[in-house]
Amino acid sequence: MKWFSPARALAALSLLSTDAVRHVSAIDLDPASPESIKDAASKIAKELVAQYATKDNAGVHVLGGYPGVLYPPYYWWQAGAMFGTLLDYWRYTGDDQYNDMMREGMIHQFGEKLDLMPYNQSKNEGNDDQVFWAFTMMSAAEYNFPAPPDDKPGWLAMVQSVFNQFVKRYQKEVDDGNCGGGMRWQIYPWLNGWTYKNTASNGGLFHLGARLAMYTQNDTYAKWAEKAYDWMDNSALIEEDGTINDGMSMTTDPPCKEADRIPWTYNYGIMIAGAAYMYNYTNGAEKWRSALARHLNKTEQFFPEYYRGIMTEICEAKELCNTDQESFKAYLARWLGVCIQMAPWTHDIIMPHLQTSAKAAAQTCVGASKHGAGNYACGTRWWWEGFDGVQGVGQQMTALNVISVLNVDRVAPPYTSKTGGESKGDPGLGTGSVDDDIPQLHTHPMTTADKAGASILTILVMAFVFGGAWWLCIE
Ligand SMILES: *[C@@H]1O[C@H](CO)[C@@H](O)[C@H](O)[C@H]1NC(C)=O
Ligand SMILES: *[C@@H]1O[C@H](CO)[C@@H](O)[C@H](O)[C@H]1NC(C)=O
Ligand SMILES: *[C@@H]1O[C@H](CO)[C@@H](O)[C@H](O)[C@H]1NC(C)=O
Ligand SMILES: *[C@@H]1O[C@H](CO)[C@@H](O)[C@H](O)[C@H]1NC(C)=O
Repeated sequence: MKWFSPARALAALSLLSTDAVRHVSAIDLDPASPESIKDAASKIAKELVAQYATKDNAGVHVLGGYPGVLYPPYYWWQAGAMFGTLLDYWRYTGDDQYNDMMREGMIHQFGEKLDLMPYNQSKNEGNDDQVFWAFTMMSAAEYNFPAPPDDKPGWLAMVQSVFNQFVKRYQKEVDDGNCGGGMRWQIYPWLNGWTYKNTASNGGLFHLGARLAMYTQNDTYAKWAEKAYDWMDNSALIEEDGTINDGMSMTTDPPCKEADRIPWTYNYGIMIAGAAYMYNYTNGAEKWRSALARHLNKTEQFFPEYYRGIMTEICEAKELCNTDQESFKAYLARWLGVCIQMAPWTHDIIMPHLQTSAKAAAQTCVGASKHGAGNYACGTRWWWEGFDGVQGVGQQMTALNVISVLNVDRVAPPYTSKTGGESKGDPGLGTGSVDDDIPQLHTHPMTTADKAGASILTILVMAFVFGGAWWLCIE
């Protein structure tokens, strides 16, 4: 615990005397004030965008290389997730200055076959990577984000494409008798995690199905969402008390019985949002009310009293978060906001947590930008006093999402096709054969790095194989 340490207090005092300007510029967020929320969010968004979109004089993306990607060490999926965070920023604050840039990046990554598997990325793409891009396309539909040009599919169609691909992959697991169904983590056998069934992928199918059902009012999507949820609930991924585990190996005997139990905020976020949409879509069905209640109950662990109720990722205590994990709190914050809208009875449970966490996050955003965007680089650990020295895309995303979402009560719920949503769909996109998904397989030989895989949390499989990684994370 560093917050009350006398040594740090002294250090802070000496900083104050030598560098007063820096402290004047600190963000003192009033979580109840829309002006304060917008002001804080805009400063943090500016720093985030600076990390994505530095262009040279000819207008070429220097850092990302081309639209829709981030520079290393960030993987492709995180760029998709970042556009989702920026869509929320626009939605919750009304600031549309980055919208053209976002739209360009999102459309550029549709993929040559309109499957969110662009050739530059697909050979080490996992289901969880793909679904994070689909989540962003769904938000674009739900927020009536300016549509792609007429000769391209709409945002909704791109989500349907991924949903249809997921259904094919799930069905193949059923046909092959692999754990009675469920999504594998990976799309391709050459990647680490091919024999791991994880929450981000299965929860991704559940979550996409729930949102598509709500948007289109087509019950086929809801049936698939329920099927994915029930399969997870009957597996080691979801426990009776609402605990959501990360994944399970197919190579144990029996397969799919041993869960990796490390709790991650984003897995809870994915599942809570899916359950909240299903709750609303079914007009308050008891099944989804109780699913929400039990998952929310277990979400309390991320707001420990030990850290004054501030949202905390488990890897923070020992500073072991990788660049993927540094962004996870963004998704829990984002989808707790959605939960408030879809299931208003959760408002008073969730909002105090978001306010406490957002205020703590804002006070960390006093780091000097490495990208010349000012002094609003945010830290990883929100329970730390001031900036903790580590800056990056994940840190900006998490702070931006948790602060923007405080405006959730002031913004209309996501549009559906019934309430004014205008995104163009294509229910048949992505329904070709499974082999159609396999890209340039014979033209690009795999490198060792490709085989190592770029999917979210490669390290977790290692941890799982070596018998649980709690010792890494817990005092
Ligand atoms: C693939 O990479 C090349 C540069 O190597 C880039 O010009 C192109 O835009 C990328 N394609 C996509 C779909 O991102
Ligand atoms: C569904 O969401 C709408 C919009 O937020 C809300 O008014 C309604 O009460 C919700 N339905 C249920 C059953 O809570
Ligand atoms: C929430 O969890 C606590 C234990 O932490 C338990 O006593 C309580 O019954 C749970 N509530 C619900 C609604 O599941
Ligand atoms: C509902 O969605 C399913 C799955 O994509 C599709 O096959 C069906 O045609 C849709 N039904 C309607 C009425 O649009």
